[in-house]
Amino acid sequence: MKGRICSLKFLVLVFLVQTFMFGCLVFYERKLKMINKWNEDSAKLQKTNKPVNNLTYPVFKHPLAPPYPFPYKFLINQPDKCKNRKPFLVIMVIGQCQDLESRHTIRETWGNVSIYDVEVVMVFLVGLPRIASERTQNVLEEESETFGDIVQQDFMDTYYNLTLKTLMGMEWVTKFCPSASYVMKIDNDMFLNVDYLIHNVLYPDLPVRTNYFTGVIVKNTGPMRSKAYKWYIPNEIYPNNTYPPYCSGPGYVFSADMAKKIYDVAQEIRVISMEDAFMGICLYELQIPPTEPPRNVFNGHKIQYNHCKFRKVATAHHYHGQELRRLWADFLAKKSQKC
Ligand SMILES: *[C@@H]1O[C@H](CO)[C@@H](O)[C@H](O)[C@H]1NC(C)=O
Ligand SMILES: *[C@@H]1O[C@H](CO)[C@@H](O)[C@H](O)[C@H]1NC(C)=O
Ligand SMILES: *[C@@H]1O[C@H](CO)[C@@H](O)[C@H](O)[C@H]1NC(C)=O
Repeated sequence: MKGRICSLKFLVLVFLVQTFMFGCLVFYERKLKMINKWNEDSAKLQKTNKPVNNLTYPVFKHPLAPPYPFPYKFLINQPDKCKNRKPFLVIMVIGQCQDLESRHTIRETWGNVSIYDVEVVMVFLVGLPRIASERTQNVLEEESETFGDIVQQDFMDTYYNLTLKTLMGMEWVTKFCPSASYVMKIDNDMFLNVDYLIHNVLYPDLPVRTNYFTGVIVKNTGPMRSKAYKWYIPNEIYPNNTYPPYCSGPGYVFSADMAKKIYDVAQEIRVISMEDAFMGICLYELQIPPTEPPRNVFNGHKIQYNHCKFRKVATAHHYHGQELRRLWADFLAKKSQKC
């Protein structure tokens, strides 16, 4: 009897493992097929590409390359956000249209810019949802009217297009907030200690730096050449095997003059879908290396919350929703406690 149950269990296990492996195979095959199709399409497209004068590279269309330069339009804008003001810090939060909850959480935690002792401006950067409808757009426009902190352009908001969002941020600062001193780009699943960033990294009492770009610096990496990776970068898009040093995407900060410099240089070079590595390529083209950050201040990984420790960091990754709200309440409540 026992033997029979065991062998039955064994059979079920074998069945499950096989089903799982089959599922993986189907998934992988499908992805491979998709990428092969992309490559075929791009080979066709490339034949019709005409080189354009005064661009370093010819204008280039590859399905894995974000379409750029392209005159994307601002669908939702905050053109007067910085009018007659000189914000010390602009916080650009990266997220998608549908991330309403995370925007509320951020507005009610570290993104409540009224609590800081220097002028801080915050905007949420979004593109178009993959399935865009009039309704979702109306909801977003209403939110923008209520909070006045949403900036949207008309590119499709996908992983491969993330670089377009950062470039939209650079364009926004260049055109609508050139009076700012510093800009922080941050993902919507981060803890951000704005006070520490202001007073212990950027220093409002010192002259504003120029050519400054810092965060968690990534060195000695290169593009993923295997098609099985989500972040696969084909040779035709980026031929070199290494990336110049860059700051890890979830949170980096720079002097506002860099926004225009990066926006300008991005018009002339081939844009790649790795947003942070692309910033590194821009810095390389500009011959402005990233600045080493103070130690342990920017954290691209999750660190265990402890109010004393968090008082001395600028960023920590993977905090959102209720966890971020609870952390923030504790963080504020213990602000004047000794450590
Ligand atoms: C921001 O902080 C102020 C002052 O503490 C508070 O009155 C306001 O309700 C907060 N705003 C949000 C959106 O939580
Ligand atoms: C990127 O955005 C453009 C413009 O909206 C769109 O045509 C393209 O399909 C998007 N690319 C990817 C890979 O999502
Ligand atoms: C890529 O490699 C070429 C040839 O070695 C070099 O001239 C160029 O500066 C490199 N570009 C980057 C972004 O590293």
